Amino acid sequence: MSTHPAPTVLLTGGAGYIGSHTAVTLLEAGYRLVVVDDLSNSSEVALDRVRQLAPGELVFHRLDLRDEQALDAVVAASGIDAVVHFAGLKAVGESVAEPLRYYEVNIGATISLLRVLQRHGVRRLVFSSSATVYGDPASVPVREDARLSTTNPYGRTKLVIEDLLRDVAAADPSWHVALLRYFNPVGAHPSGRIGEDPRGIPNNLMPFVMQVAVGRHPELVVFGDDYPTPDGTCIRDYIHVVDLAEGHRAALEHLDRLGGCRAVNLGTGNGSSVLEVVTEASRAVGRAIPHRVGPRREGDAPATYADPSLAAELFGWRATRTLADMCADAWRWQSANPHGYAEPIA
Ligand code: NAD
Ligand code: WQD
Repeated sequence: MSTHPAPTVLLTGGAGYIGSHTAVTLLEAGYRLVVVDDLSNSSEVALDRVRQLAPGELVFHRLDLRDEQALDAVVAASGIDAVVHFAGLKAVGESVAEPLRYYEVNIGATISLLRVLQRHGVRRLVFSSSATVYGDPASVPVREDARLSTTNPYGRTKLVIEDLLRDVAAADPSWHVALLRYFNPVGAHPSGRIGEDPRGIPNNLMPFVMQVAVGRHPELVVFGDDYPTPDGTCIRDYIHVVDLAEGHRAALEHLDRLGGCRAVNLGTGNGSSVLEVVTEASRAVGRAIPHRVGPRREGDAPATYADPSLAAELFGWRATRTLADMCADAWRWQSANPHGYAEPIA
């Protein structure tokens, strides 16, 4: 038997879409997990299912990260080695309507977390950043040294938090921070037991497509087909959420070698158009996804996809799952759970 106890990782927002998938991957790798989440955009059922999918220890505390006293008590009692900070609000349109709430929650929660970690000597952190920090990139594929700009309050909270973490790491060289810039996470665990369960009408393409497929919406509206791309629809770098989860595991394993604070893209390096996603999703579902072309959505970049080579170099990580895998797994989750984690209304 090993004499080393398994490392303990704090997952903020660990009941959410990406957090729950990362929890499965980390439990499988032997980490002990402490999840804190206020369940403002998630369900505890996701964590029950994580426990069914993977062996090991996962402790859950329901709290708002901005409740610094409650968070302090959890960190004081848990012996945390590293943190993955997922918690935050993420809907672009909502952030335009409610900017104050987005700044308060996303930045307030991060400051509270950092104060607690400083107090308890925890200096290893992985942060959920986003390709939204590249705005409409001047060229693709996008490297981490591309110019940063964003078009909405949600994106600005990511830029502020990246700056905040860079400043904190610069002030104290014992910090090791990875700013993981996710491209477009989609798909679900291949078991179909956990997946993406957005509240209300989904903003994002894949959950909307899947909800059309189960009959929750009559059709998809494709936001514009007059972009300067081969089929006229926008191009994105869709990445399977399990690849993304494995990217977090790789980042945690290599954190100490990063030296301070580093931004790293997590994407596949491949771009797919909206119509390509619709075609692949139709194949996975086994029938056509009804769709029509509508006007462009304000703020959409014509094409963005990652240069993922830094993650390969630093973490030895590469995405391996295809768009077909993403659609098949998203459909397995959606068809088995047409109302997500909620019980269907009788
Ligand atoms: P999600 O909403 O499913 O998960 C976020 C979790 O944080 C939720 O469970 C929510 O209840 C929790 N939370 C929110 N505010 C909190 C607070 N104050 N205290 C405690 N818990 C709180 O979102 P996700 O898709 O899993 O995203 C996770 C992270 O990744 C977010 O920071 C998001 O901005 C970032 N990100 C997501 C995407 C994407 O497309 N899904 C892309 C890039 C970056
Ligand atoms: C993808 C493509 C749409 C819905 C967003 C955030 C970004 C990051 C990931 C958090 C676009 C088109 C969509 C629909 C459509 N999240 N589309 N009809 O905009 O690339 O990125 O999620 O950090 O910050 O901005 O993703 O899934 O919304 O859109 O035609 O009903 O699908 O125009 O081209 P996006 P998305």
